[in-house]
This record gives sequence, C-alpha cells and structure tokens, in this order.
Amino acid sequence: MNVFDAIRARRSIKSFTGDDVAADQVQRLLDAAVLAPNHRLTQPWRFLVLGPDSRRAYGRVLGSRKSAKVEDPVAAEAVARKVEGEFASVPVAVAVAMRLDEKPEVREEDFAATWMAVENLCLAAVEEGLGTHVKTGAVMDDPRVREALEVPPEERVVAIVQLGHPAEQPAAKPRTSAAELTRWLP
Ligand SMILES: Cc1cc2nc3c(=O)[nH]c(=O)nc-3n(C[C@H](O)[C@H](O)[C@H](O)COP(=O)(O)O)c2cc1C
Repeated sequence: MNVFDAIRARRSIKSFTGDDVAADQVQRLLDAAVLAPNHRLTQPWRFLVLGPDSRRAYGRVLGSRKSAKVEDPVAAEAVARKVEGEFASVPVAVAVAMRLDEKPEVREEDFAATWMAVENLCLAAVEEGLGTHVKTGAVMDDPRVREALEVPPEERVVAIVQLGHPAEQPAAKPRTSAAELTRWLP
C-alpha cells in the first residue's frame, strides 16, 4: 500500500473484532513510530503496552471519572461498568508517553515529535490491516493512572492508542480542501 492510500484509508476505529493482535505486529508498529522526525533526536516517546492489570486499572479510573459526572448513584455505577467494559474489550491499548525536557522549547518540539510518532503508528497499522483510535483527555494526568501505568515524574502520557482489527470501516469525515486553507505566497 502506498502512503497516500494509507492516509486516505485511515479512520478512527470505534469497534474492533475479537481477533487477537500479535505482539510482533504491535512491535512493528512501534518500530515505525520511532522513525518519526525529531529535532535534536531527543527520542522523547515512550510506549506502554497495557497488560491485563494495568488495563483494568486504567478502565476503572476512566469509568470512575465518567461516573463522577452522573448524580444518580445507580446510573453512575452503570456508567462506570459500561466504560470499564468498553475499555476492556479493546484488543490492544498502547499509552504513548513522552519524556519532559526541562527546557520549554525542547518540550514543545518533543510533544510535536511524539504526535508524529503516533501518526506513524496509525498509518503503519493501516498497512497491517489494523485500525486505531487515538484518545486523549485529563484522565491521562490522573494520579491513579500515573500510578497504575508506573509513569515516572519526568514523563507525561499524551495519548492512549486503541488498536485492533476494525469491525467496520467508517465513512471518511468531511474535510475542508487543502486548497481552501492554503495561501501560496509570492
Ligand atoms: C490529538 C488527538 C486527540 C484525540 N482525542 C480523542 C478523544 O479523546 N476521544 C475520541 O473519541 N477521539 C479522539 N481523537 C480522534 C478524533 O476524534 C478523530 O481523529 C476525528 O474525529 C476525525 O476522524 P478520523 O480519525 O476517522 O478521520 C483524537 C485525535 C487526535 C489527533
């Protein structure tokens, strides 16, 4: 598959089949991720492939955060269980973290490079017949998540990439054409 085809085929995949993803397949995606452009080659990215315990812990925090917004205790409990169950059903979850440089300028560039690594991962997944869904949010900074994923103080989790065999190929979401958003300067 050429790169343009992979870019056009990539979607955020919300539902996966129950088929397993082999560990060596995940490794290939991570090997592609680390080839991202990176000023000063700081290699800020860190990858945490969640095993059963860390995954359960993450799902529980996610569930408790969502349920905290629900007033009725019975409904809140149902929300917590639903969110936990949904997260548990994702075939593979990779937390993408980055090392926090002490210089703000380097930290910003490293953040950008880490996202380029995420995109490499997502496009490589397309080539492998896999789908991804990138998730972010305040949950990543939750002390319970940091503890469950053993994130050291000098690192920050920037995303959770959910990964598996797509159960469906959603329609592409409409985009404004690049031509409309581009100015060719003299
Ligand atoms: C930085 C970033 C953060 C995202 N965070 C979330 C998220 O927290 N939850 C979610 O459902 N999707 C998240 N997404 C996925 C976007 O919602 C998705 O890319 C967008 O709807 C376009 O759909 P597509 O990826 O299928 O083209 C995120 C994507 C990016 C790039």
